[in-house]
Amino acid sequence: MVVLLDQTRLPAEEVELVCTDVPALVEAIRSLAVRGAPLLGLVGAYGVALAAARGYDVTDAAEQLRHARPTAVNLGYGVRRAERAFRAAADSGAGYERAAAAALTEARALHREDAEASGRMAEHGRALLGELLPGGGYRVLTHCNTGALVSGGGGTAFGVVRAVHRAGELRRLWVDETRPLLQGARLTAYEAAREGMAYTVLSDNAAGSLFAAGEVDAVLVGADRIAADGSVANKIGSYPLAVLARYHHVPFVVVAPVTTVDLETADGGSIEVEQRPGHEVTEFAPPTVPGAGAEPGSGIPVAPLGAQAYNPAFDITPAELVTAIVTERGVVSPVTGDALAELCSPSPSP
Ligand code: MRU
Repeated sequence: MVVLLDQTRLPAEEVELVCTDVPALVEAIRSLAVRGAPLLGLVGAYGVALAAARGYDVTDAAEQLRHARPTAVNLGYGVRRAERAFRAAADSGAGYERAAAAALTEARALHREDAEASGRMAEHGRALLGELLPGGGYRVLTHCNTGALVSGGGGTAFGVVRAVHRAGELRRLWVDETRPLLQGARLTAYEAAREGMAYTVLSDNAAGSLFAAGEVDAVLVGADRIAADGSVANKIGSYPLAVLARYHHVPFVVVAPVTTVDLETADGGSIEVEQRPGHEVTEFAPPTVPGAGAEPGSGIPVAPLGAQAYNPAFDITPAELVTAIVTERGVVSPVTGDALAELCSPSPSP
C-alpha cells in the first residue's frame, strides 16, 4: 500500500489516505490529495512499485499513473525510473519478486535523491538571495505550495524560504492564497505556521498593491515543468507575478530540481497545461467537509448555476521574465536555453 497525507483535508485535519491499488492512487493524484511536482514523481515511482508488488500489469499501471495529470514532468520521470528498474531486473532473469523489489528500491532511491536535492537547492537559493539583496531582512512573496508537503525533503521555493528564516534573514513571507484550490492559504500557511515564520496570507489579486507599496523584495516559486528554452510552467497566477516583478524591478526566482527541467520540450508553448473542472472556480468547498467540492454541485455556489469557468491549473512564464532558476546543481542566471542545457546535461538517470 502507499500511505499519503491527504492534502485536500489540510489545514483542518491531518488524515492519512491509504491507497491499496493503482486506481486509488490515480484518483489521489487527480483530486490533489497528493500534489506538487517532486512529490508526484515519488508517488509515480511508488505506484509502479505497488503495482509490481500486487502482481498487476506493470505496463498498464505505469500508463495510468503517468497520465493522471499532464503538466508536471516529474510524474512521468518517477514512473519511468521504477518501471525501468522493474524491467531491467525482470529481463535479467531475476524472477518476479526480485523485479518487484527492484522497483521499490528505485522508488526509495528517488525519494532520497529528492530529499538531498531539496537541501542543496536551499543552500544555492539562500546564497543567491544574499547576492541579489545584500543585508537580509527579506520580504518574500510565494505562490502555491512548494514545501515539505511536496517533496521527500524540505521542498523547492519554500525550502529556500525556510533556510533564510532559520538563518534569521526573513522579515516576512507573503503567501498568495492561490485560487481556486488555495494551496497557499491552506498548505503554505500551514507549513509557515509550523516553522514559526512571520507570514501573511493575501488574496492573489492583492499582490499588485503589495508590489506598488514596495513591500516585496523577491518572488520565489517552484515549477512543474521547465522547457528547454527556460519557459516555466507553474501554478496559475505565477506569470502575472513575474510581470509585476519585472515592472517593479523585483527578482523573480524559480526553484526546482533538475528532474523538473524537460529538455525534450522545446518551449513554453509545447507544454501541456492541465485544464481543471469549472466547478472548482464556481463553487467553494467547505474545507472541513471531507470530499466536498470533489463533484460538481457538492460545494457552495458562488456563480449562477450553469456559469462557464476558465480553470487552467498552470500558466507559462517566459524565460525573459525569470531572474534565475535555482537547481540542486547550481543557479542559471540569466536564463537561456544554452545555460540550462549545460547545467542539466547529462539529464538525471535514466
Ligand atoms: O496543482 P498543484 O497543486 O499540483 O500545483 C503545484 C505547483 O504548481 C507547484 O508550484 C509546483 O509543483 C512546484 S512544487 C515544488
